Amino acid sequence: MTRKILVTSALPYANGAIHLGHLVEYIQTDIWVRFQKSRGHQCHYVCADDTHGTPIMLRAEKEGITPEALIARVHGEHLRDFTGFHVAFDNYYSTNSPENRDFAYDIYGKLKANDKIAKKTISQLFDPEKQMFLPDRFVKGECPKCGAKDQYGDNCEVCSATYAPTELKNPYSAVSGATPVLRDSEHFFFKLGECEDFLKSWTTTPGKLQQEAANKMQEWFESGLTDWDISRDAPYFGFEIPDAPGKYFYVWLDAPVGYMASHKNLCDRLGLDFDSYWRKDSDAELYHFIGKDILYFHSLFWPAMLEYSGYRTPTAIYSHGFLTVDGAKMSKSRGTFITAESYLDHLNPEWLRYYYAAKLSNTAEDIDLNLEDFTARVNSDLIGKYVNIASRAAGFISKRFAGRLHSGVFEAETYALMPAIVALQKKLQGASDTIASLFEAREYSRAIREIMALTDEVNQYVDTVKPWEMAKHPEQSGNLHAVCSFLINAFRILTIYLSPVLPKLANDVEAFLNIAPLQWSDAQHLLLDHTINSYSHLMVRIDPKNIAAMIEANVQVVETPAPAAPAYEIPAISETISIDDFMKVDLRIARIADAQHVAGAEKLLQLTLDLGNETRNVFAGIKSAYKPEDLIGKHTVMVANLAARKMKFGLSEGMVLAAGGDGGLYILEPHEGAKPGMRVK
Ligand code: MSP
Ligand code: ZN
Repeated sequence: MTRKILVTSALPYANGAIHLGHLVEYIQTDIWVRFQKSRGHQCHYVCADDTHGTPIMLRAEKEGITPEALIARVHGEHLRDFTGFHVAFDNYYSTNSPENRDFAYDIYGKLKANDKIAKKTISQLFDPEKQMFLPDRFVKGECPKCGAKDQYGDNCEVCSATYAPTELKNPYSAVSGATPVLRDSEHFFFKLGECEDFLKSWTTTPGKLQQEAANKMQEWFESGLTDWDISRDAPYFGFEIPDAPGKYFYVWLDAPVGYMASHKNLCDRLGLDFDSYWRKDSDAELYHFIGKDILYFHSLFWPAMLEYSGYRTPTAIYSHGFLTVDGAKMSKSRGTFITAESYLDHLNPEWLRYYYAAKLSNTAEDIDLNLEDFTARVNSDLIGKYVNIASRAAGFISKRFAGRLHSGVFEAETYALMPAIVALQKKLQGASDTIASLFEAREYSRAIREIMALTDEVNQYVDTVKPWEMAKHPEQSGNLHAVCSFLINAFRILTIYLSPVLPKLANDVEAFLNIAPLQWSDAQHLLLDHTINSYSHLMVRIDPKNIAAMIEANVQVVETPAPAAPAYEIPAISETISIDDFMKVDLRIARIADAQHVAGAEKLLQLTLDLGNETRNVFAGIKSAYKPEDLIGKHTVMVANLAARKMKFGLSEGMVLAAGGDGGLYILEPHEGAKPGMRVK
């Protein structure tokens, strides 16, 4: 039965380059789509650029171009990169399209008619200079938990606390540097809370979500579904909400709608029936491939939006994990934040497709691109084993048999060879269903293992029959012909199984074998009595030098942020003094042996300072900045020859050094190893 299948990958943001992390998803999806097509199903793969939102608006502004110009340029770059990796969309569109506006309006209108939209006034940080509300990522400040500076408005990269942007200390706008103020504004909400019953039953329907995703879902239900804020105030790059001037759809509202828009655009071009895919009783299958980071949007918001606007919901959501390179997060400074473009400058895209396939399963586990393993694996599996079969057999067919494959491997002269050939042929053809079901289940690594096990067997067979020995004996010419013709067929069958992963190589094999494009079912018959072209090498080995060059090209000097305008006054430098003047001040390392509050003193702490051979009593005005217990045992620097001073609370015998002003107060602490009594100069 021919299935009607629509497949999507997440829509990449239109403000950055495609990198090898993204490609985990697009390659995974492309393999699945190519597999379905090869099986003879009607399968379409649509995607688009995700073009709306504040970051894109600001990026365009920074580049001094319109958002439209930015997204047009990036669209070209993205499509170039995907094409370079043989990711073959049936349509690659844009969320900034008339179709997308129509569907966003349509869905929003239906949600509203179904009483699923609410209005609420909320208070949000506003940049008074830039005159815009600030998304969480555009507010920075000090972490409310650990005090780390320059943290984003939603979470701290130092202590990983999460919080609201309003909780940041000393917040500033990442756009203008201005101090944000709280301002009220009316927002539109999608009443997700009211969709709970539907979502609970939808997400627990077998097959919709992977187990790990279903578990995650359970956690989300337990912590309660909150209504979803779907509007943003001008200035914003997106679709203005009908009947609400100055209010725009939040980018994540119209982003998944972009799947429909891209598909509609394709249907209009090909004369397909769009409604038959999207109406509630559709017989078409709809699959979304996504990264695990955007599960919430796809497993909650999106099905609920579709359900309550009268459309069908997805057949399943498949999420994958994140890419690490050599075991670590991709890093710009280490050169492992590798763009698609720079990879293609140095390496063959099918090497990466193969490696990802060899690592991917149907779980959302992260996958690691280990560059050494990548080289070893590709060189051994693809060149050493698979391509090797063709190169071992093709020469004889060209030179000895004018490129003509045997008319029947089952000739009398080869009788003695028959059992082994037949057994191997059966094995190769018989693996078709197993391998197909592994591709279907997105268990690519297991599919690759099966295929490579077959490849090993074919190579073992070659080692056993030794065609090069047969070639030395003219009377064995018939056998040589039969064996090499069989090997070409074995290679052809393996190529069919690998073709979803290695589409370009499969095309080259088709050209070499002089045949029409291979389909999955072609594995069940042999290519006989047919003239093939002469063999020229199909794939070269990875040279580690090229990997090194690629890494080199990706190393970026990571900008250390320009020092922010200090939030305190810097006093002018004092009059110049001589070294002798300076040497009059006897500075010593002191250990804070004790620190106490002083009854009745607002600003002072009483310190007992150990100078190695004597102790001093010092009153220091540091109570606002330090707790006594935090100081005890620490080392600091004191002026040891300052005239003692009689104070209300007692005699002060020196002074500790502290930096300060209106930016806070910080006593000095020497590097580790300095001992009490040492002179500082
Ligand atoms: N624009 C949204 C998706 C909207 S879908 C209606 C978005 N864009 S993205 O460019 O950030 O990511 C696109 C896809 O690439 C996502 O599925 C994301 O999970 C995936 N990946 C981005 N970086 C990745 C890795 N480092 N590793 C694996 N996948 C990654 O999210
Ligand atoms: Zn923190």
